[in-house]
Amino acid sequence: MDYDAQLDSALDRLHQEGRYRTFIDIARDKGHFPHAVWHRPDGREQPITVWCGNDYLGMGQHPVVISAMHEALDAVGAGSGGTRNISGTTVYHKRLEAELADLHGKESALLFTSAYIANDATLSTLKVLFPGLIIYSDALNHASMIEGIRRGGGLKRIFRHNDVAHLRELLEADDPAAPKLIAFESVYSMDGDFGPIKALVELAEEFGALTYLDEVHAVGMYGPRGGGVAEELGLMGRIDIINATLGKAVGVVGGYIAASAKMCDAIRSYAPGFIFTTSLPPVIAAGAAASVAHLKTDRALREKHQTQAKILKLRLKGLGLPIIDHGSHIVPLIVGDPVHTKMISDMLLSDFGIYVQPINFPTVPRGTERLRFTPSPVHGPKEMDALVRALDSLWSHCALNRAELAG
Ligand SMILES: Cc1ncc(COP(=O)(O)O)c(C=O)c1O
Repeated sequence: MDYDAQLDSALDRLHQEGRYRTFIDIARDKGHFPHAVWHRPDGREQPITVWCGNDYLGMGQHPVVISAMHEALDAVGAGSGGTRNISGTTVYHKRLEAELADLHGKESALLFTSAYIANDATLSTLKVLFPGLIIYSDALNHASMIEGIRRGGGLKRIFRHNDVAHLRELLEADDPAAPKLIAFESVYSMDGDFGPIKALVELAEEFGALTYLDEVHAVGMYGPRGGGVAEELGLMGRIDIINATLGKAVGVVGGYIAASAKMCDAIRSYAPGFIFTTSLPPVIAAGAAASVAHLKTDRALREKHQTQAKILKLRLKGLGLPIIDHGSHIVPLIVGDPVHTKMISDMLLSDFGIYVQPINFPTVPRGTERLRFTPSPVHGPKEMDALVRALDSLWSHCALNRAELAG
């Protein structure tokens, strides 16, 4: 085979469809986030404001987090030096797991190097732990859940997004005695809509199924102590396994599940994605633990976050822009075409110093390409004004452009 030609044609396809991904090289400015510097391809540096990050609450620069990380680094050095089983379990890991178990009102929590790995490793291992397990998965579940379910093999059923009636039909069609698990998310990150958690839990109880909830886009931001949407709804105790990340609202990196002690023990003992990999550096665990502990008490930060999202949505709606509003903190602006989405994103960046990455297929369906804004408590009125003004002027420019292309 001509390997180079094969790679060229794979990459050409992406270019032709306008969805070749270009990474924007930025340096965040600690203490001044969302301000950052863009290292342009031409070698120049340009100040920018980040509007698409998932450091939703600005915890990546919070003094409590930074000082916990400094302390841990000075105390024990850089890496953990091993897998959890072989010298890589430290007091920092244990403390963070206790903090997370407490956050979700569960007996235990189990750390992974990311929420992607946590989803993939846990879901694939559940198929091993429960032979014959049927997994019912929401059609818009994250790639990491899809991958875990696929890799685990065995039976799976995909229910239409948030369609409880469709899920019921699928459950009714299967052997009542078969072990079952329903996997879904609390906040779907691309549209910002909520999963019908209560209805899904009720259905699971009726059919004797386990529940698996991904709270990656909710932990830290929803619930009285930041335990997520399940906490807000008083449903944490009825969910069997909660998954989330330490890389978004918590502001560091890593992922975890929280569940019963027995469930965590079994996953810990059987999941290759947990067993055969170096554990998170203690410095990361220390920063994440400080962040989670802080977020349990900082309701004002959560309220400010929601207020910021409401203001941005109101202002963009006021301009007549086609945003999706499901009442969450995520503000997607639908452009509907990969080339235009990239064009607007490029112009926002180079002409206005506003960074929002274009979101294309396969992350979202074709024809719904979008810009996804993530307002946070650290975006001030000045930044918000600049964004709204830039979008106002660019949107009309692009509408003209689109009309020209269509004509
Ligand atoms: C719903 C969902 N689950 C899991 C993940 C993976 O999280 P992490 O970045 O910690 O791997 C993401 C990442 O964007 C996500 O959106």
